[in-house]
Order: sequence, then C-alpha cells, then structure tokens
Amino acid sequence: MSILVLNFGGQYAHLIARRVRDLGVHSEIVNHDASIESIHAAKPEGIILSGGPSSVYEQGAPHCDAGIFNLGVPVLGICYGHQLMAHKLGGTVQGGGKKQFGKQEIDVTRAVIFESTPQKQVVWFSHGDAVTKLPAGFKATASTPSCAVAAMADEARRFYGVQFHPEVVHTQHGQKMLENFLFKACSCTRTWSMTEQAHTLVEEMKQTVGKEKVLIGISGGVDSLVAATLLHKAIGDRLECVMVDHGLLRKDEAATVSEYLKKQGFANLRVVDASETFLSRLEGVTDPEEKRRVIGHSFIEVFETEAQKTSGVTFLAQGTIYPDRIESAQPSKNAAKIKSHHNLTLPEKMGLKIVEPLKELYKDEVRRLGEELGIPRELLWRHPFPGPGLAIRILGEVTPERIKILREADAIYIEELRSSGWYDKTWQAFAALLPVKSVGVMGDSRTYEYVIALRAVDSVDGMTADWTRIDPEVLGRIASHIVNEVRGANRVLFDVTQKPPGTIEYE
Ligand code: XMP
Repeated sequence: MSILVLNFGGQYAHLIARRVRDLGVHSEIVNHDASIESIHAAKPEGIILSGGPSSVYEQGAPHCDAGIFNLGVPVLGICYGHQLMAHKLGGTVQGGGKKQFGKQEIDVTRAVIFESTPQKQVVWFSHGDAVTKLPAGFKATASTPSCAVAAMADEARRFYGVQFHPEVVHTQHGQKMLENFLFKACSCTRTWSMTEQAHTLVEEMKQTVGKEKVLIGISGGVDSLVAATLLHKAIGDRLECVMVDHGLLRKDEAATVSEYLKKQGFANLRVVDASETFLSRLEGVTDPEEKRRVIGHSFIEVFETEAQKTSGVTFLAQGTIYPDRIESAQPSKNAAKIKSHHNLTLPEKMGLKIVEPLKELYKDEVRRLGEELGIPRELLWRHPFPGPGLAIRILGEVTPERIKILREADAIYIEELRSSGWYDKTWQAFAALLPVKSVGVMGDSRTYEYVIALRAVDSVDGMTADWTRIDPEVLGRIASHIVNEVRGANRVLFDVTQKPPGTIEYE
C-alpha cells in the first residue's frame, strides 16, 4: 500500500519520495531496473518515474520494464520519466530543439493532475529533450511557446507525464499536482505520518542491531540527539553514548545535553572532558585550515580511545542525514571535509558496522521525528553549530582567555535573542572574537580590549545566506549587555556581509 518511485538518477527520486511522505502517503524508492515481479508483489497504488540526466535514446540510458504499463496502476512520469513513458508507449522524444531550462510559464488544459491550479502557472524545467509525438491515447495537457507537450495524459489508463519537476519548490503548484496524482488518480488514503515513521525506524533498528551493542558519538547537535533517542527506544541499555567535550562548546552545552539524556534514562553515557588535549594542541596554531585539521584528528583519536574502553560494541551509529550524503560529494566544502573525517575514517579504522537511522531524512523531518520522540523544542530547534566549535569563531590563536570571553558574549547574545523573540526568526546567530584590541572608556578608566562581532543570518541550507535585519533597539541592548558584563571585550560590531562572498563562519 504505497507509491513506488522508480529511480532514474541522482537526487530526484529522493525528493519525490519525500514530497509523497509530506502528503501522508508511504513511498518507497526502487531502482529503475527492478523486476516486474517485484513491482507487482509490492502492490503499489501508483508508480512515479523519476527524472534523471540521461536521454532516452542514449546508449546505456536507464530503462524500466514496460510491463509496469500493464499492471492497471496509475503512472506519473516526471521529466526523464515522462520522456521514457512516451518512448515506451510509442511516442517520439527529441533532443536539440529549443531547450527548456529553469522557470517557465505553462498553459494548462483541464486534466486531473492540474485540478485546483490556475491555467497559467510557473514551473521548473531542467531537461533538454522533449516529447514531439504523443503516444496513442494521450493528449497534451500543458504547453509553453517552445514546448508543445509540457505535460500529457491518458486519463482512461491514468497515465500522466510532466516535462517539468513538480517536486521542486520553484514549481508553484507542484505539491498540488502530486496531491492530485495521489488522491485523485491513485485514490490513496493518508495513512503515513511521523508517528508511523518513528515506529518503523525503531523496528528497523531492532532488526538491524539484533542483540548486539551500538556506540554513538553525541555532539550536542540535533542529528546525533535524535539518532541516539531513536536507538535508545529500540535497544535501551545496549546503546553506548560518548560525548567528547573538546572545550570549544557553547556555554553549558555539554551539561545541558548530558543532563537531559540522563533524565531520559540513558544509562551508558560518558562525557569525556578532553579540553586539555585539544587546547594544548591548538597552542600557537593560527591558520584556519590547520585548526580544523588539529581538531578533526584529535576528535577521532579521543573518540577511538573511548570506544576501545567500551567492550562488546559491534556497531557505530551516526546521525548522518540525507543532505550530508550529498554534501560529502563536494570536497570543496570545509564542513564536508571535517564530516568526511568523522564519517569515513572512523568506522574504517575501528572495524565497526555502521547504522545511520536518519540517512533518508531531511533536517525538518529529523526535527519532526525528534518531536515525535518527545525531545523538547529548545533542544530540537537550536541553531546549527560547527564541529570545530568556538575555535573557528576566534580568529587567530585559540587561548583559554579568548574562549572564556567569547563564550560569555555568545551566551548573552543568544539569551537576548531568545527573550526578544529573534532567536526563532533567524537561521543561525553567534558571536565571534576578533583578535584586535580597541580603546574604550569605562567609568573613569581607559580600557583596551577585544572586539566582539555578532553574526545573524537567514538561510535555507547554509549554502547561501543574507544577514538578518535584527531590530536596532535589540542590537543596542545586546551590545550594552555584552560590554557591561563580559570582562575583556569593550566593543561590539554587527556583521552585514552576505554569503557569498562572505562565509557564515569566520574561518
Ligand atoms: P560556512 O562558514 O561554510 O558555514 O558558510 C555554512 C554552515 O555550515 C556550518 N559549518 C560547519 N559545520 N563542521 C560542521 O559541522 C564544520 O567544520 C563547519 N563549518 C561550517 C556553519 O555553522 C554554517 O551553518
């Protein structure tokens, strides 16, 4: 009882499955060459053929068993899936015409897929080929000036094709189109929910782990917290948690998270205070990449040492989420580089089997799952925090004095954002310490102290960002609060740099 998404390449299938889940219908992704027997056995209520980068006539292009069109099940072809459907059912596909890329306005005629959407609407194209001759039984249901078959349908057989991508947010009414396919064409019922997903994931973890033991590293971030909670529900005290405190965490971070977990009955939680190791290795290090390298390597070393103290562990659990798997394919991104240390080197050297309970989910789904598992909002909705911690927010050398100053300033900033309601309105906010001193006056005395920079950004995925227009009154209050209370800082700046060209973090 679900929608089967046939995968013809890359991320497309995953995003479609996610949109179907959002609509309350279970969906599974299978490879395009799945046998007709296995598809039939899955008893799908509908089949979606995903997009993909190939051309249908190309040698080696992915195909599917044409038998899917004889199952009596509705089929929706998207982009490459649309072209493949036309090709398999006797139509013609051609490349090299006027290319359709990016946002375009389509003109729709009446069709089930477009019900309750306007006649003219913006959709997102990303393929050069197009259907030029319709298969028998089909009608064109949408067009653009340069693409006669932007969509097609054979309503009798409930076959639908769209040349564009309804699953991406740039397609204005894309979610409505998928909804129409699920509930009008396939007559699905909404049975899939986060409650059910949480239950399924717990059962899956029980099956995978069996009677063995799992080790998980708790970073204090949302992903590892949710993964650990899920595993704890599945295997209880056979979960071993290690939290490495590198001395570069936010104020009270290690204590808040570990106290919460203890209250939840996590019996095997070890918080390792490794701050001396990290700070001594960071002495004299000023180059940003070198700092990251030192921290990444030390982290692995400390974690491995702790893991060896835990007897009988055979699995290593990681809080990897779906976008991490895409990001680690981009070696230029620093975050991915650090993560790739954690994700790849650790298990290889430790000889442990891996479990990644969140690997199919997006961040907002992880948070919804966390809510379902009863994790409090204050922990689930915290801003992102980088692995190397405060070290990349202290420009130049990291010293205990600088950490102390930054930690206090950052805590005040975050506290003021929370009390003024701005914390939830910005995507990520933090303070950074600039290693220059400026002159100030306090009481009757001259001061000569560090500069604190405040950053607050709006973003969707951290890849691009704009600075948050925080109320100047609030900023003024924060600046006074910091200068009055934090010994060692006498000036506060607010950063108005966009990404690009700036990055969100300072190093
Ligand atoms: P940048 O500075 O690259 O930051 O614009 C984009 C987002 O990624 C986070 N970030 C990291 N996260 N390890 C992490 O886990 C890292 O090394 C790292 N560097 C940056 C950053 O906080 C922001 O949300």
